[in-house]
Amino acid sequence: MTPEEFENAARFIRDRSGLVLTRDKTYLLENRLMPVVRDLRKKSVSELLAGALGGDEALQTAVVEAMMAKDTAFFRDWKPFVHFRTVVLPNLRVSRGMKPRFRILSAGVSNGQEAHSIAMTIRDVASSFPGWDIDVVGIDISGAAVAAASKGAYSQFDVQRGLPIRTLLQYFTKQDDAWVINDAIRGMVSFQTWNLLDDLFPLGRFDAVFCRNVLVYLDLKTKQDVLGKLSRVLVDDGVLYLGLNETIAGVTSHFRTIVPELAIYAAHRADRPAALSLASKVDL
Ligand SMILES: C[S@@+](CC[C@H](N)C(=O)[O-])C[C@H]1O[C@@H](n2cnc3c(N)ncnc32)[C@H](O)[C@@H]1O
Repeated sequence: MTPEEFENAARFIRDRSGLVLTRDKTYLLENRLMPVVRDLRKKSVSELLAGALGGDEALQTAVVEAMMAKDTAFFRDWKPFVHFRTVVLPNLRVSRGMKPRFRILSAGVSNGQEAHSIAMTIRDVASSFPGWDIDVVGIDISGAAVAAASKGAYSQFDVQRGLPIRTLLQYFTKQDDAWVINDAIRGMVSFQTWNLLDDLFPLGRFDAVFCRNVLVYLDLKTKQDVLGKLSRVLVDDGVLYLGLNETIAGVTSHFRTIVPELAIYAAHRADRPAALSLASKVDL
């Protein structure tokens, strides 16, 4: 691949997804695109890129999909899920008493483990929410990831990463080689192919947003744009979970930090700087 081909491809991928590829990532671009070259019977990465940049939408989608890092796990980093169960859910129960509905967004959901982990966390305390309408929405730019998430079938390797055996047996059924998520969890979760660079309003508003290990791949300006969009789909007392290595310090004023070591943030409204947050520990 020539330096010019790399620059053009990197610009296209950044404009489409926000992913930043610096010049030293040439090998990454080639490595990730080689399987696409083989699958689509192209002669080379250069030919694939020429087709994509020439406007072939199927090739464009294939290139962007291939470049996404989709690593994930059930209950990844587990502590944010403990916070969600022990702080956010009790706060929701009290503050939404008259309006028994809450919605959670898993943005950059990959193959669905995060959204399913959220649903299992809620299900574990379901007796506290009789009659509540609970909606967990998973979105990802990758249609392949969303298709896998919607299927809800995981390999032995997938379920061994982060899923306690009790939870596995409670919420999954073994079907041939796969562990398939039960209908009780499936009924709480829906998935859509969606680009975080696009308008998020059609998704509706959310009480909590998980956007973990996604922003780390974006440049500062794109991060700021995405955080602005996420803030606007959050309710006023809403909570944002980022990945443990991600911070908003110096990035945005749309959120204030609640638990820095767990990257948990509260929506911040300039006109109501001290507003109570679902993410705060309060005496209930
Ligand atoms: C590393 S995975 C993180 C998965 C999960 N949130 C977790 O923490 O385990 C990042 C996911 O973000 C998705 N992603 C990256 N850029 C995106 C964008 N612009 N819009 C929507 N999803 C995006 C990728 O396709 C990938 O599935």
